[in-house]
Amino acid sequence: MQAQGEQRIDGQLVDRSIVLAYFGAALLFMFVSMLGGLLMGMQLLRHNPLNGIEFFSPGRWRMVHTNAIAYGFLANAFLGLLHWAVPRLTLRPVLDRRLSWAIFAAWQLIVLGTAGGILAGHAQALEWGETPVWVDPLAQVGLLLVAVNFMAPIVQLRGPMYVTLWYFMAAFVWTFLTYAMGNFVPQYFVSGTSAGAVGGLFIHDLVGLFVTPLGWGLMYYFVPIILKKPIWSHGLSLVGFWGLAFFYPLNGIHHFLYTPIPMFLQYGAIVSTIAVELVVTTVLINFFGTLWGRGREVVTNLPIRWFYTGMVFYFLTCLQCALQTTLTFQALIHFTDWVVGHAHLVMFGVFSMWIFGMMTYLIPRLLGREWYSRAACEWHFWLSAVGVFVMASDLILAGVFQGWSWSSLAPWYDSIAVSIPFWAVRIVAGLAMFAGFLVFVWNLWMTWRSAEEIEFSSVPVTA
Ligand code: HEM
Repeated sequence: MQAQGEQRIDGQLVDRSIVLAYFGAALLFMFVSMLGGLLMGMQLLRHNPLNGIEFFSPGRWRMVHTNAIAYGFLANAFLGLLHWAVPRLTLRPVLDRRLSWAIFAAWQLIVLGTAGGILAGHAQALEWGETPVWVDPLAQVGLLLVAVNFMAPIVQLRGPMYVTLWYFMAAFVWTFLTYAMGNFVPQYFVSGTSAGAVGGLFIHDLVGLFVTPLGWGLMYYFVPIILKKPIWSHGLSLVGFWGLAFFYPLNGIHHFLYTPIPMFLQYGAIVSTIAVELVVTTVLINFFGTLWGRGREVVTNLPIRWFYTGMVFYFLTCLQCALQTTLTFQALIHFTDWVVGHAHLVMFGVFSMWIFGMMTYLIPRLLGREWYSRAACEWHFWLSAVGVFVMASDLILAGVFQGWSWSSLAPWYDSIAVSIPFWAVRIVAGLAMFAGFLVFVWNLWMTWRSAEEIEFSSVPVTA
């Protein structure tokens, strides 16, 4: 009976093929991004295999690396996961499945147009907003349509709304506004320090108001479902939501401390950054409270292991952030690899790990097949977790040495000589992450090709 119910919910509400299509696109762009990261890393060691080819010059690859992650991997994965979670939470399908497919096609055009435009030398001169100017209006319309498609089932809900949907609704509005602010305001309306301040808001809000609410919202959905118990505290989950809403938008200028931006804005950014750390702590307490009494699941249940390892990395990122947001510490680490280490820890160690956990849980359910190889799932996890931990620790340490070298006023080249061993270790760690990813893709392919579909309800939660 229950199995039939599940089948019905799945068939009528969730379009499994679009979730899979988004996952496929996300993985393709993760591949491109990792390739770009490796090439950029090789360049820093002066071993770029594509040296001398302008189209593949490292500065362009670097932008492809970051853009493919933000718009290619994260956005595609989130859109796929939303197509699973929103209909199940609202018990209503999205507004229109044809619209979903149109958005899917348009989004891939946007990401490919961005990558092609950047490689051809048409990047917009805005950090994280490098999407060429002709792509921006299309992306803006795409974001609007995404909001309309998912809001339709949400607004029909009556009665109290689960926190996941709060996060989703906020993310639809915030992402639309953040994209517009970052891509149009500094380009057409303001210049100088004001443009810098807006740029700072944009790069941080992209993480805080696009990635974070979707990531947290999805975790509030998947963790209780997989653990088969309610979230520890609904009250605390709302503290996290409103805390994010109030404090995150003010953070951006912490990227531009010691610049001509007025000091009151810089101090405001520092105070609100500390506030966000407290907010993140409430979220982590809530998730660990939910795990309480079921700690063994971290060992036996793979998606749960991905999730909670990501949370430990989240805690470490926030700890790091507590240091780097102070003026004293920033005098040492600004512009160093410390920040690059931080970026990898949060983007891969936290949000990508959560997404891989969700994919590990969902793919057997989407394909109606058990994972082809449990051992490959384990390899994917361990290579990714150890790889990103080594990469982040390595770069964070490199940043401290670079900062010391610069503050000693030694010749610039000394800081490069100090960095070389760290950059070599980064490549090794990157190769481990890349290998883990390839194992995952291989396992997915083999699962796809493997025998008959099994009964939907009998697909194991533990993958
Ligand atoms: C194969 C593994 C990877 C390697 C070797 C790698 C390498 C690099 C390199 C060399 C840079 C430029 C650093 C600089 O300009 O000094 C970079 C930047 C960056 N990477 Fe990766 N990366 C990898 C995977 C990833 C993944 C999977 C993500 C996200 C999920 C990611 C997110 C970022 C971000 C956000 C930046 C910008 C950092 C900043 O501007 O502070 N990388 N990466």
